[in-house]
Amino acid sequence: MPSIRALLKLYPEQLAQQNLPRISSFFVAAAGDRIVGCCALQIYSKRLAELRSLAVHSTFRRHGVASRLVELCKQRARARGVKELFAVTSQTGFFERAGFATFRREKTAMFFDVG
Ligand SMILES: CC(C)(COP(=O)(O)OP(=O)(O)OC[C@H]1O[C@@H](n2cnc3c(N)ncnc32)[C@H](O)[C@@H]1OP(=O)(O)O)[C@@H](O)C(=O)NCCC(=O)NCCS
Repeated sequence: MPSIRALLKLYPEQLAQQNLPRISSFFVAAAGDRIVGCCALQIYSKRLAELRSLAVHSTFRRHGVASRLVELCKQRARARGVKELFAVTSQTGFFERAGFATFRREKTAMFFDVG
């Protein structure tokens, strides 16, 4: 978890630093003994899970690491019988390539900041 936190800390603007998913929710990518990528699947119910804390170290970008991590999360979701995944992200291009869409069955996700 300290290595995951260190990776997430590189992207304070894009990624939450508090209330992270528990360690068992994460998949990680390693280069030698170093964690260079991570992604978590936070399962809320059989209906819904969130893809969270996706980060790949800049040196290892554009080699399909994030795609592989997302694929592993999708496989875990399928295995657990989860119907739908969502992600709250600024990297919409990446997620569109991964098959995510803003609109699904004419619905839009809307959020309220409780404060
Ligand atoms: C977004 C991020 C995880 C992508 O990691 P990556 O390992 O470079 O992604 P991949 O190599 O798997 O990219 C898969 C495809 O998406 C494309 N892609 C990657 N980042 C993209 C972006 N920001 N916008 C559009 N396309 C993108 C790649 O070119 C690649 O396309 P290709 O298969 O046609 O070559 C990485 O840039 C990152 O850690 N960013 C900072 C943290 C962040 O913003 N996380 C997401 C918030 S949830």
